[in-house]
Amino acid sequence: MSNQANLTIGDQAFPLNVIVGTEDEHALDISTLRKDSKFITYDDGYGNTGSCESSITFIDGDKGILRYRGFDISELAEKSNFLESCLLLFNGELPTTSAIENFKLQVSSMSALPADVESMIESMPSTTHPMGILGAALQALGGSFPKLSTNTRPADVESFDEAAALILGAIPSIAAKHYRSSRNESIPSRRGNHNYCENFLHMMFGNEDGQSIDPAVSNALDLIFLLHADHEQNCSTSTCRMIASGGANAFASLAGAVSALWGPLHGGANMAVIKMLNEIHSAGDDGSQFIQSAKEGKSRLMGFGHRVYRNYDPRAKILKSACDQALTALGVESPILDIARNLERSALQDEYFIQRKLYPNVDFYSGIILQAMGFPTDMFTVLFAIGRAPGWLSHWKEIATHGKRIHRPRQIYQGSIHRPYIELGNR
Ligand code: CMC
Repeated sequence: MSNQANLTIGDQAFPLNVIVGTEDEHALDISTLRKDSKFITYDDGYGNTGSCESSITFIDGDKGILRYRGFDISELAEKSNFLESCLLLFNGELPTTSAIENFKLQVSSMSALPADVESMIESMPSTTHPMGILGAALQALGGSFPKLSTNTRPADVESFDEAAALILGAIPSIAAKHYRSSRNESIPSRRGNHNYCENFLHMMFGNEDGQSIDPAVSNALDLIFLLHADHEQNCSTSTCRMIASGGANAFASLAGAVSALWGPLHGGANMAVIKMLNEIHSAGDDGSQFIQSAKEGKSRLMGFGHRVYRNYDPRAKILKSACDQALTALGVESPILDIARNLERSALQDEYFIQRKLYPNVDFYSGIILQAMGFPTDMFTVLFAIGRAPGWLSHWKEIATHGKRIHRPRQIYQGSIHRPYIELGNR
């Protein structure tokens, strides 16, 4: 294929460079189009817009492929773990044993929250959603470590490894601190031999007796985090990159990403799935009435559909079987799991969903596992955020080291044209 395309507007031709990605994706470079032609391009919701060149994650939505730094998600799910995948995402290569061990130690040593951050969490209005707490606490964490959050690019890049370890260590502690405080409980003392997920589960549900954590449960949580670790230019990651492009530090950029993730069409979908399944269950429906109402546009089948995947989300496939294993290990019978299976079966055979290429996404089964582990529903999106933090951090680093200019889309103005001000008495 030629490395140039021509756009014809009226009788004028405008040559456009073709950018070819390493996986043979093709893009028209329109960066000089406005200067050359006075035209901008219009793409509501950015469905057809490449906002950057990135070397972190590759998705082929038609084939259902997801790779971190070239490694297939199914292979990473089988052979890697969350913290190893974090280093892979940050640095581009699989880490050595000593790099992994150092990183584990660093993350673990930075997981205790500064006292000011703990007091801030305690003093937030009691009705604040855990995602609101997380965003605010990340800003407070940056404030507690001014040397890691200078908003001076070279200094922030220099301290990236430390900031990243701090953020990964602190986010589970923020989540657990808020959960415990809201129940007037304190976090039990840390146990030195716990790994990342065991420590989080201990902070959430353990006690001073330090009963052992079922490895099936901590492994399932580790898998959920790994599967969420990055997903290229989604809403929250694009938000993180947008904030970073203005020169903001990683803490501020991640706080913004947390807000973007919160919504029910993005990370909030895992909460919405459980709400939907519970409502179907209490209505005595096996899912068929709900499918009908989704087809009529009266409701949305949460956990289904994806902007990029027009095939089975590979993460949902892995989580579906992890869900069966985790529930067996926990000895939990879940009536809503049967409803979820029914919904999936019916939707995959239904013309409405087939035609629109709507398949289960990562959120369809993750909430069922998290609920069985004992996490309250309003924390599900925080768990998504813990998993996605390395992705946001990797994108922050990519912008900070390779970003060229501040992100600033254009618009087509469709408002009132110029008009004179009307004095108050004449309105
Ligand atoms: N249930 C019923 N119909 C749907 C659904 C759904 N879940 N998703 C899309 N559609 C329909 C939609 O109504 C439209 O129909 P029509 O062509 O007749 O107007 C068609 O499918 C195309 O949908 P769209 O809204 O244009 O697709 P989008 O790419 O803008 O939205 C989405 C993607 C994920 C926001 C959407 O599929 C959705 O709302 N899904 C439910 C929420 C959800 O599970 N979100 C988690 C996404 S994965 C994790 C993450 O990245 O956060």
